[in-house]
Amino acid sequence: MKVLHSCHEAFAHAHHVRLEGQRLGFVPTMGALHEGHLALVRRSKEECDATAVSIFVNPTQFGPGEDYQQYPRTLEQDCQGLRDLGVDFVFVPTAQDLYPVGFSTYVHPPRVAEPLEGKFRPGHFRGVATVVLKLFHIIPATAAYFGRKDYQQLLVIRRMVEDLNVPIRIVDCPTVREADGLAMSSRNRYLSPQQRQAALCLWKALNAARERLASGEREGAALQRHMLDVLYDQGADRVDYAVVADPDTLEPLQEVDRTAIALIAAHVGKTRLIDNLLLEPSPPDEPN
Ligand code: PAJ
Repeated sequence: MKVLHSCHEAFAHAHHVRLEGQRLGFVPTMGALHEGHLALVRRSKEECDATAVSIFVNPTQFGPGEDYQQYPRTLEQDCQGLRDLGVDFVFVPTAQDLYPVGFSTYVHPPRVAEPLEGKFRPGHFRGVATVVLKLFHIIPATAAYFGRKDYQQLLVIRRMVEDLNVPIRIVDCPTVREADGLAMSSRNRYLSPQQRQAALCLWKALNAARERLASGEREGAALQRHMLDVLYDQGADRVDYAVVADPDTLEPLQEVDRTAIALIAAHVGKTRLIDNLLLEPSPPDEPN
């Protein structure tokens, strides 16, 4: 497995793979890899002839006061895991490579970036869209793999790729969870054992919404209130949002009469966690 640091080396390598007519799969990450990331890599390995992974903690997607400095960096371990999976090459740029002095061009993200994460992390999706588009140019892959764990991010990337005619197929992969349901996240390693238990409140609240819906509650606002109750009751210290929304636009739903998505961002101690779950409407009442 090659570990490439410069943009032109990575481009040359990826370009070569494509010129040989091979399918190149690409998995962009910020490292501190866990089973969620590795599932994306395995999927790429299944579907493509060669697989590239990038590891870059992207400063432009972190806001002031967020965890850019503390974000876990475990490059050696990450590379070992990727080598074991048979990844062809890893791209590990520096911030100076991707954002040299004078850098000043950004992607204005699509409308779907505005609610939810967009409200609570202003500028976040501008940074994500910009770095992902740069990475797509450096690594001209056939397909790129993203997790549904970051559902809004997935919608932002899909829209950007469509709007800007980027010739890369976006593949979404299911959220990988711990045995008790906690969505895997690089940020879970910030949690103390007690906070790790409290962090389950997101998964419990999402399931509570699913159960309420199954038992006949279709009002979006009622489902949201129920999620909030469960979150605070089960250990959240602060909730940024807990909504039931349209899965394409992320607009809140007044009534869940079609497939919806429940999305949560909540703080446990100093750690901010997100999770989501698709909700299917309950079948209409049987006529008597
Ligand atoms: P990062 O948080 O490292 O995530 C990299 C990819 O792994 C994303 O597509 C994310 O959705 C996916 N992922 C994370 N946890 C997952 C889980 N439990 N199950 C399934 N997939 C999971 O997302 C980013 O990095 C960055 O914003 C990036 C796209 C790399 C741009 O900087």
